Amino acid sequence: MKLLLCLCLAFALTLAQDHHGQKDDHHGHHGDHHGGANLIDCCKGVEMDAATENEEGIPYFFKGQFLYKGFSGKAELSNESFAELDDHHHLGHVDAAFRMHFKDDPTHHNRIFFFLDNKVFAYYQHKLEEGYPKDISEVFPGIPDHLDAAVECPEPDCDEDSVIFFKEDEIYHFNIKDKKVHEKTFKNMPNCTVAFRFLDHYYCFHGHKFSKFDPKTGEVHGKYPKETRDYFVRCPKFSDDSDHLERERCSHVHLDAITSDDAGNIYAFRGHHFIREDPDKNMTVDTIENAFKELHSDVDAVFSYQDHLYMIKDDQIYVYRVGEPHTHLDGYPKPVKEELGIEGPIEAAFVCADHHIVHIIKDEHMYEVDMSVTPRVVKAQVPLSLLKKVDAAMCGPQGVTVVVGNHFYRFASPMIFVAGRMMPRQHRVSRELLGCDH
Ligand SMILES: *[C@@H]1O[C@H](CO)[C@@H](O)[C@H](O)[C@H]1NC(C)=O
Ligand SMILES: *[C@@H]1O[C@H](CO)[C@@H](O)[C@H](O)[C@H]1NC(C)=O
Ligand SMILES: *[C@@H]1O[C@H](CO)[C@@H](O)[C@H](O)[C@H]1NC(C)=O
Repeated sequence: MKLLLCLCLAFALTLAQDHHGQKDDHHGHHGDHHGGANLIDCCKGVEMDAATENEEGIPYFFKGQFLYKGFSGKAELSNESFAELDDHHHLGHVDAAFRMHFKDDPTHHNRIFFFLDNKVFAYYQHKLEEGYPKDISEVFPGIPDHLDAAVECPEPDCDEDSVIFFKEDEIYHFNIKDKKVHEKTFKNMPNCTVAFRFLDHYYCFHGHKFSKFDPKTGEVHGKYPKETRDYFVRCPKFSDDSDHLERERCSHVHLDAITSDDAGNIYAFRGHHFIREDPDKNMTVDTIENAFKELHSDVDAVFSYQDHLYMIKDDQIYVYRVGEPHTHLDGYPKPVKEELGIEGPIEAAFVCADHHIVHIIKDEHMYEVDMSVTPRVVKAQVPLSLLKKVDAAMCGPQGVTVVVGNHFYRFASPMIFVAGRMMPRQHRVSRELLGCDH
């Protein structure tokens, strides 16, 4: 369940693509793959140049000559996907980008526009459109060169289908239909270096911070700016003034593990922190180091069984007796193979109340191990029918909760989870599981 340590701008997506490959990304860093070009450590706070979604809704982030696609956080050279951006070396890097997707404009629908210096490039499925690059002033009359940021704003988010351009503290609403510019003043809005529409929200990145804004008025509601790395990047440390509980509830970064203990407390683990929700729905956050010192951080799977938390990290298992404080049992950690009869690492594990069976998810299968007999051995193995990868899972009065990326699914029983034919309704982890209020 571990993602790589520093997923550079690791956006969690609603999309299926989001679930592929992330667990394979144990490389940790992505430098040195490209002729010695040095990549930035995203956890030190990174300033992107531009961002847009592609035609399938996968976020693309640009920094210098690099492109970060979606959630994998792996950098590649942007000219590998958009070759012609390189033919005009003097133009430099991408200043701004957006995806045109307005239903009433079939000629430009689903084009991705890039702005470099005084030129605009339009791509459709990674192919440069005929006649491009063109001068910005030709395609978007009234819009200046050397932009800072751009974002699409379809109806009804904006009064009419528009593109919002940013340059220093000037903001231009470009109306797609009449090709007229309406200059607006967005009071209190920072100078955006990146503007990005994601899951129906509008984000302005400025430095290594971001604010969510109303595209009609430029108003920023709620407590912003926030640190980009706190919400979009998996980092071992956060900024000193980070609100840990708020961040852990609302982060876009995927969970590592989740479990509920016999008393009805829920524990959700991510990186170095975990949230505990007690039966009264009171939530607290703590570091793993503080409560589970031996484990330190980055757990793969956790299940609870008879007042103990079984915590799996790589091929080792740690066992804690639940209490204040939790106590680590003597003789642990042990190899997962020795304790459970199955090789670690695993993706997720859970026990349903009062049962002795631990259900282990690994390599597209669910394995069953009976905790009441020793030595413990795998007694059943069933392929997963609906989900290929699982980040975390737990079992409770509401059945089996399975977390994949930013979403979770509920199944009435472990058997329905493995053998079901219909995907159940998708829920958002942040809002519906962790109580994030925005
Ligand atoms: C992309 O850019 C790199 C570095 O500037 C260069 O070595 C490579 O040949 C380029 N690739 C393409 C497909 O243009
Ligand atoms: C925003 O841009 C304007 C114009 O360049 C500049 O005067 C102002 O200081 C900038 N504001 C911030 C917060 O950087
Ligand atoms: C929630 O738990 C914390 C820590 O145990 C406690 O300080 C706080 O008062 C509790 N809040 C509520 C609303 O019960």
